[in-house]
Amino acid sequence: MNEELMDESRDDILVCSRVRKVFASEAEELEILGGVDLRLGRGDRASITGPSGCGKSTLLSILGGLDRPSSGEVSVGGVDLVRSGDDGLSAFRASVVGFVFQFHYLLKDFTALENAMLPAYMLSGDRKAAVAKARVLLEAVGLGGRLSHVPAKLSGGERQRVAIARALINDPAIVLADEPTGNLDRASAKAVEDLLFELAERRGTTLLVVTHDPGMAERASRRFVLRDGALAES
Ligand SMILES: Nc1ncnc2c1ncn2[C@@H]1O[C@H](COP(=O)(O)OP(=O)(O)OP(=O)(O)O)[C@@H](O)[C@H]1O
Ligand SMILES: [Mg+2]
Repeated sequence: MNEELMDESRDDILVCSRVRKVFASEAEELEILGGVDLRLGRGDRASITGPSGCGKSTLLSILGGLDRPSSGEVSVGGVDLVRSGDDGLSAFRASVVGFVFQFHYLLKDFTALENAMLPAYMLSGDRKAAVAKARVLLEAVGLGGRLSHVPAKLSGGERQRVAIARALINDPAIVLADEPTGNLDRASAKAVEDLLFELAERRGTTLLVVTHDPGMAERASRRFVLRDGALAES
């Protein structure tokens, strides 16, 4: 670990320094991230905006351990994502971080309850405890009356609320959300946004949300813009 990461303060949950991401094909080399620096404290609620194609999803994938940077340092929840092996990254994704994507990615043959409880069951092997936790979370997102519905029998906003319950089930230190309301009508988008921010606040979870919605971006206490491969805080 380099010196910059070593002086990570105890209150930092995420430290990302000089992160570059280059996509190379036979025809060309594209530098999408050209040296991103970002430091988030525990409990921060942050937003990232920026034009389409500027690299927001690419950055979130790196911060969530789904992809690796071409160079630079990334540490999230005390885990060094550059030096962790694939098993280390899987463990990190299962326990430290929760994801909410634009598309919910719920399993279509599973009920709301089963979808929400699965990450907890996979982590602990304790089915009873996982079900109990999932019930509490689904009630918190207003779906206590929809536990046995499969995704096809839920509205878009409801599916996204199940995805939020699933993201929170292992009590992640940080939730990464990539355009979580991008597919929803205005009213459902507002409901999902409220839930995401209120639950994060109540549970002390750090939240980093990528959005094209200026209202949601404004709601964050720390606001960043990704432009020309670098992040600027406004
Ligand atoms: N696996 C890949 N291989 C090559 N190029 C890629 C790959 N993934 C992303 N890119 C390119 O990187 C750029 C950034 O993509 P990214 O999805 O991060 O943008 P974004 O900011 O999330 O955009 P949007 O707001 O439209 O979701 C795009 O130009 C895209 O074509
Ligand atoms: Mg994107």
